[in-house]
Amino acid sequence: MRTQVCIIGGGPSGLLLSQLLHLKGIDTIVLERKTREYVLGRVRAGVLEKGFVELMREAGVAERMDKDGFVHDGTLFAYDDQQFRIDFTKHTNTPVIVYGQTELTRDLYDAREAVDGKLIFNVENVSINDADTNTPNVTYRVDGVEHRIDCDYVAGCDGFHGVSRQTIPSSVRRDYEKVFPFGWLGILSETPPVSHELIYSNSDNGFALCSMRNANLSRYYIQCSLSDSPDDWTDEAFWDELKRRIPEEVADKLVTGPSIEKSIAPLRSFVTEPMRWGRLFLCGDAAHIVPPTGAKGLNTAASDIHYLYHGLVHLYQDNDTSGLDNYSQKALSRIWKAERFSWWMTNLLHRFPEQSAFDLKIQRADLEFLQSNDAAQKALAENYVGLPY
Ligand code: APR
Ligand code: PHB
Repeated sequence: MRTQVCIIGGGPSGLLLSQLLHLKGIDTIVLERKTREYVLGRVRAGVLEKGFVELMREAGVAERMDKDGFVHDGTLFAYDDQQFRIDFTKHTNTPVIVYGQTELTRDLYDAREAVDGKLIFNVENVSINDADTNTPNVTYRVDGVEHRIDCDYVAGCDGFHGVSRQTIPSSVRRDYEKVFPFGWLGILSETPPVSHELIYSNSDNGFALCSMRNANLSRYYIQCSLSDSPDDWTDEAFWDELKRRIPEEVADKLVTGPSIEKSIAPLRSFVTEPMRWGRLFLCGDAAHIVPPTGAKGLNTAASDIHYLYHGLVHLYQDNDTSGLDNYSQKALSRIWKAERFSWWMTNLLHRFPEQSAFDLKIQRADLEFLQSNDAAQKALAENYVGLPY
């Protein structure tokens, strides 16, 4: 087989890139390790920056997002029994859209399949070969049969545990990592959200987040120990702990119910440099991970896709390689700002095992300054709604 761009990974990054390139007449093949159903079964955040929303509209897959997504003009912060709001419209005139990643991934799959896009599932033994030459190829196995795709370029959209990042020689690549000493225990419940906007809460017992998927599907998180497992937490224990970590007036309104999903995610910051090696380009989680505190995972994938998509279009339409040549530097510049913001939000809102009394006073002062200072709120709002591409 031959294609112009071989995309490894059928998550949001790979599917969005495939759809955008298709609309420009650029041929792609998407290789996905799992099944469509498995990919869609992943429960992930969906706070979409303006840039992502515009890419989804450009890709022609925004109809359900625009219909069912929640437009949020602000978000709430809480500490002790205090609450304050960051007004996105006041500071940036830009909202975010809350629309589950599962749904936007479904929309992308539907769009690719509507035009018979080449999506190959259950691939094994994927190998990216000769990426540092002008004739790269990708080999893989399906149902025990070996296949080869010759291509012009390879987009590594295969997430943190994929093969793409490992294809770049360790002598070329440099990894940066920070592992946080706690995780997030998250549940989904078929209950109405406790608030029409998200609530990020810092409490003596640890962090909590009140979020949502739709008017009758809520998403809640509490900071937990890395030694915890979901089975350690009954629904009742979760709800009791969540109520201890949010203001009393909010806890009094909380509608609890059985969890339909319960999982623990570790928190880590990770970036690999460079994000290009020859004709291989890394996008999304393949190149970087953020703690979920700033809701940047999906949105940093989007800006990578934006840069790579435009670089490839300029190459194929104008024989101009500048977009591809600048890809890694441009993507990393924005990624590190998102890493910084996610790291800062995580430090602002969580309890750390080694925190001293002084550290807690500084954290409290940070929250009080954010609560009282317009410039601090503007800085948070600009980062949260998304810095420019
Ligand atoms: N071959 C083919 N596909 C692979 C391989 C491989 N060797 N390894 C992994 N994959 C697939 C995974 O099964 C997954 O469907 O690549 C896809 C990568 O998708 P994501 O992990 O969702 O990464 P990305 O598309 O960059 O989306 C980033 O997802 O993890 C969240 O928080 C993150 O919201 C962000 C978004
Ligand atoms: C979520 O709804 O899952 C969510 C929202 C915002 C975050 C993290 C997760 O910062």
